[in-house]
Amino acid sequence: MTTATYSGALHSAVRTDDEWAARLATARDRSDTGERLLASAVKKSMDPTVDIDWAAPIPEDLYGMTPEWCSLYGTDLWERMTEEQRIILTKHEAASIAGTGLWFEAILMQMILRDIYDQDAADPHVQFALTEIADECRHSVMFAQAQRRFGIPVYRPRWYVHNLARVFKAIASGSLAYAGTLFAEEVLDMMQRDFMKDERVQPITRSVSRIHVLEEARHIRFAREECVRCLEDSSWARRQVVSLVLGVTAYFIITSLVNDDVYAAAGLDVAEAKRARRSNEHYHRMLRTGCGRTVEFLDSVGLLAAPARFLLRRAHAI
Ligand SMILES: [Fe+2]
Ligand SMILES: [Fe+2]
Repeated sequence: MTTATYSGALHSAVRTDDEWAARLATARDRSDTGERLLASAVKKSMDPTVDIDWAAPIPEDLYGMTPEWCSLYGTDLWERMTEEQRIILTKHEAASIAGTGLWFEAILMQMILRDIYDQDAADPHVQFALTEIADECRHSVMFAQAQRRFGIPVYRPRWYVHNLARVFKAIASGSLAYAGTLFAEEVLDMMQRDFMKDERVQPITRSVSRIHVLEEARHIRFAREECVRCLEDSSWARRQVVSLVLGVTAYFIITSLVNDDVYAAAGLDVAEAKRARRSNEHYHRMLRTGCGRTVEFLDSVGLLAAPARFLLRRAHAI
């Protein structure tokens, strides 16, 4: 049986032997990645409901997150704030960042479910996709539980971003879905790697960050490999469309990290705080560092066309 006739049982379109060989190699590649990541999930999975000591006291003198990641760190306003205000602000900013994570996890879970709807549930690739959804379910519960423990409401993106995302989560698939996911996952990952090691930070934030970093490593691997595979068949025009929508998505992810209400919670003048954030070169540098790996990867696969670059520059991601 030739490659073409064997594959013909799976797909009715007429293709050359070379095309089918490439498709089969991709499918095998997907299964191999799935097997590898499933093995990692067996070894490195946590249950935050029992692995975090939710009843532990919350020290009054510790920050909610690494202060250097705070949007006002390094500004004149930061220098004028009391230590108590800095602690409150970092707690609320950490909650806002987690709220953005929570928001994108809900989007991601829906995109993955749509992606595997037609696929064989026994394939390791699909098995891992289901495992990732289970991971994200636990993360969302964990983020929300941490906010409740700190007595902070779950922050959401601005109303129009929340509603625009309805379209994205309904139609995004393939390289767009996985590249968008990478943006949200990697910028959070860079921050949380600092939070988890920082002794100035609340123990609950550190534990949440440690669990998230541990389990997100396999999601990032999955998203990167899947993004590359999905692009194999993409035309130049399709890449341009993906690049543009990706630029818009990344812009909203980054600009949603800090909800304006966090400034009011710390007793600051919101307009003054927003001005300070907008001109805070230190914060922009941190964002560029946080997005660096993703930007480099997306550039290497040809997904950063001029309009996407313009938007990412506006968001201080490049
Ligand atoms: Fe997550
Ligand atoms: Fe994830």
